[in-house]
Amino acid sequence: MLLLMTFSVLLSTACCVVYDYGAYDATRDAFLPGRFPDGFSFSTATAAYQIEGAWNASGKGESIWDRFSHTPGKVDRGDTGDVACDSYNKYREDVQLMKNMGLRDYRLSLSWPRIFPDGTLAGGVNQDGVDYYNNVIDELIANGITPMVTLYHWDLPQALQEKYGGWVNETLVEHFNDFATFAFQTFGDRVKNWITFNEPKPVCNKGYETGTRAPGVRDLTLLSAYRCGHTIIKAHARAYHTYDRGFRSSQGGIVGITLNLDWAEPRDPDLPTDVQATDRYMQIYSGWFAHPIYVDGDYPPFIKEGLQQVDLANPGETVPSFSAEDAAYIAGTADFFGLNHYKTRIVTSRDITVGTAGQTFRDTIEATVAPEWPQSASSWLYVVPWGLRRLLKHIKQTYGDPDVYITENGRSDPDVQPPILEDTDRVCYYMTYIDEVLKAIKDDDVKVKSYTAWSFMDNFEWDKGYTERFGLFYVDFTDPNRPRTPKRSAGFYTDIIANNGFPEGADVTKMVNDMWGQCRGSGTAGLHDSNGLLALFFTIIALCTSLKWT
Ligand code: BGC
Repeated sequence: MLLLMTFSVLLSTACCVVYDYGAYDATRDAFLPGRFPDGFSFSTATAAYQIEGAWNASGKGESIWDRFSHTPGKVDRGDTGDVACDSYNKYREDVQLMKNMGLRDYRLSLSWPRIFPDGTLAGGVNQDGVDYYNNVIDELIANGITPMVTLYHWDLPQALQEKYGGWVNETLVEHFNDFATFAFQTFGDRVKNWITFNEPKPVCNKGYETGTRAPGVRDLTLLSAYRCGHTIIKAHARAYHTYDRGFRSSQGGIVGITLNLDWAEPRDPDLPTDVQATDRYMQIYSGWFAHPIYVDGDYPPFIKEGLQQVDLANPGETVPSFSAEDAAYIAGTADFFGLNHYKTRIVTSRDITVGTAGQTFRDTIEATVAPEWPQSASSWLYVVPWGLRRLLKHIKQTYGDPDVYITENGRSDPDVQPPILEDTDRVCYYMTYIDEVLKAIKDDDVKVKSYTAWSFMDNFEWDKGYTERFGLFYVDFTDPNRPRTPKRSAGFYTDIIANNGFPEGADVTKMVNDMWGQCRGSGTAGLHDSNGLLALFFTIIALCTSLKWT
């Protein structure tokens, strides 16, 4: 073993420098016990299309996800959300399960075409849809659970897609505002926490660029994707002002937006080009929506530069830009920062010529992952808990130290038999990520107000159908009753809620202490034994081949 170690060290010196990303932070891999501040909220989340089913029940209109999933070849295994978790019929049971966990908050979304079947106010309101959401909201409140409601979690009325081409058309700003106004008027006496949009980035990149998600538009020039983003930013700002002017004083609620932000580290922190590429990555993938809304009403500089190249690639078309008046209207339109976090990446600069062979400004960046980061059942989802803490600090420093509501965080398991009910990997995930939130609050002074586990139960995972399971509860999608079974992680999350974190002396804290090495041992930290040394050896080889050459 000594020989192996010596060889590893010599090899690493000879062929490459190995970065233990972020090892400069001495507390990175340590467990910080402690309670969350009083009033901190632990929540779970779902979204309408992913759980409700009843896709054409009692007057509901078709959504772009109904159309997309009914189109052969679009979703893995041909899965659809036609029945999903059948929460349209089983919401009372769900609320009881939440109550039993001690949950006091729950994030859900409204299906726009269940309320406005053709997407417009003029087209009429579907009273059964309104009744359904009134019942869900009342049931939650009667059981001591505060609803946080997302207006748009991806299920656009199909009629608006057909008539206007969806989010690329700014006509949707007014239609969305009508829907938001109706929701504030109808549910705002009980709902005090509003999110306008969930994750506009994949809405536009997957819906209007790669076409891998609804509505399935493919436009690799990026013009449609940036038009989509432009409309959504304006629609968000419009709905925010509607609430601010018309409802805030009488209803006393708050309105924000949920953005999915990645964290990125330079592949070689000593190489200025990698550091600059990392900054570009953060501007493009984390700042696209955050910069206009939380900084100055306009896109970050690198996106503005990139849009000029999109312009050149689309002669005769106008690329989106904000006027000074737009910027003044958009800046500051959020009472909190809604954060969904799933991804950390390692970034390097690519020396390419933008404009040749379909290369866009985004191709000046290459993002990879470290070989030792554990993966989940989702090809893009690696476990890097410390990335969340760094991202939270970045949000504090870049976006004006806002109140941060973590509106999603979680990991997937595969859909296998027998089902994974002893989901130790998910227990480890929540333990380590939640502890990073505690560090961000206690040590970095970030104003994080809530943490939301994605998801309450297994559900329709978009183009992956039911092949990836994110739930605290297992759902049997082959059984017409869609029974829910708690996984080990549901019990663990219940304990965290009951203790408001990991206070000294609590059973949950002892358990975390006992499991910490196992949970964190899969990275380069925690190399205590011969397996660890072997892992180090292979990690060095992998890093040499994939990450940095001298
Ligand atoms: C979305 C969820 C999705 C989850 C896991 C987020 O992008 O808001 O709807 O299920 O990530 O992919």
